[in-house]
Amino acid sequence: MKITTVIGARPQFIKAATLSRVIRNRNDISEVIIHTGQHYDSNMSDIFFNELDIPCPDYNLAIGGGTHGQNTGRMIEKIEELLLTEKPDWVLVYGDTDSTLAGTIAAVKLHIPVVHVEAGLRSFDRRMPEEINRVMTDHGSDLLFCPTETAVKNLLAEGIAATRIQRVGDVMYDAVLYYSKSAETQSNILNILQLSKQKYILATVHRQENTDDTQRLAAIFKGLASSPLPVILPLHPRTRKKLQENNISLVKPICPIDPVGYLDMVLLEKNAAKIVTDSGGVQKEAFFHSVPCITLRDQTEWVELVDHGYNKLVGCNESEIEDALNASSEISSWENGLYGDGNAAEKIINNLMSFRRNS
Ligand code: UD1
Ligand code: UDP
Repeated sequence: MKITTVIGARPQFIKAATLSRVIRNRNDISEVIIHTGQHYDSNMSDIFFNELDIPCPDYNLAIGGGTHGQNTGRMIEKIEELLLTEKPDWVLVYGDTDSTLAGTIAAVKLHIPVVHVEAGLRSFDRRMPEEINRVMTDHGSDLLFCPTETAVKNLLAEGIAATRIQRVGDVMYDAVLYYSKSAETQSNILNILQLSKQKYILATVHRQENTDDTQRLAAIFKGLASSPLPVILPLHPRTRKKLQENNISLVKPICPIDPVGYLDMVLLEKNAAKIVTDSGGVQKEAFFHSVPCITLRDQTEWVELVDHGYNKLVGCNESEIEDALNASSEISSWENGLYGDGNAAEKIINNLMSFRRNS
């Protein structure tokens, strides 16, 4: 069987690392990787391929930096050309980015079946570009692999046939389990930044609804400035640009750094006193490492974390951010199985193979 994987943004490289490894260990599947180029700085792209041993992309479309429409449209055109040449049995897409949507549209129009990994997540906020990408990708996909029970329910509620849906767990949990040891032995980030364990906050901010609204952006950084501990902030290029454009300067205890590789990130997450983020992936990783999470969003797709009290939603409310940073909190229990058993990638590939045999 031949799979063409379409990826383009940082979290997709991490997710793809888990499935690519399973695929390479089998002799009955081959994978062709198309990198759309949506993320292109070396610390947003190359570093993940090198550190996580992801095969070098067969194609890099170098399409990034434009608007949603420009990026998605140009990607569809190029991916279609490649699919006509490669003629895969399946197209594999991850998550909810513009690259995900472009890969899906190009494939379905050519009648190539689509596998969506991380299907069924919903924020129910259609102003988020990711929400539109998720809904359209799910409805264009033939096989939908869900990380959570809520995701399965969301798809069923939208009328997607149960036979196309499988709950397999979260490939990001697979990744954390697989790479945590390498992070301990290979990352020197705590020494480099002179950080003591549990004596700093780790923060990430990049969501369009936060960065592109100046008031929200300013309020978030005012809130973070009230932290009793240093705030280590690997700064996403989108956010760096928006801070500069709006003349917002970051003051102590906020310590901006360049985006880091996954192994450094795992170590920073594991040893943080708290994590503050608007990232989807980082919210879950906080839970995987049993670190309390404060989420800079009004809602989340990962509702089970909020329901179980592992994650607190504070939006961009300066005083709520301040209160949450100063509150004492720790994760005393760990709900097993919320995101599967760490073998989601294996299950996805096995499922895909049997789906093919039975269809
Ligand atoms: C994208 C995804 C978002 C995901 C995030 C992961 C969409 C709609 N959004 O958001 O769901 O959470 O990736 O990080 O697909 N830039 C650089 N260098 C890079 C990458 C980006 O300078 O390597 C800058 C460019 O100015 C670019 C901007 O960041 O225009 C935004 O990048 P884009 O990929 O469009 O969106 P993200 O905010 O990264
Ligand atoms: N990440 C990383 N380096 C960073 C920031 C994030 O390796 O400097 C990892 C993080 O550990 C997680 C993923 O990138 O696995 C999350 O990606 P991001 O926050 O960009 O996107 P989202 O998950 O919100 O779509």
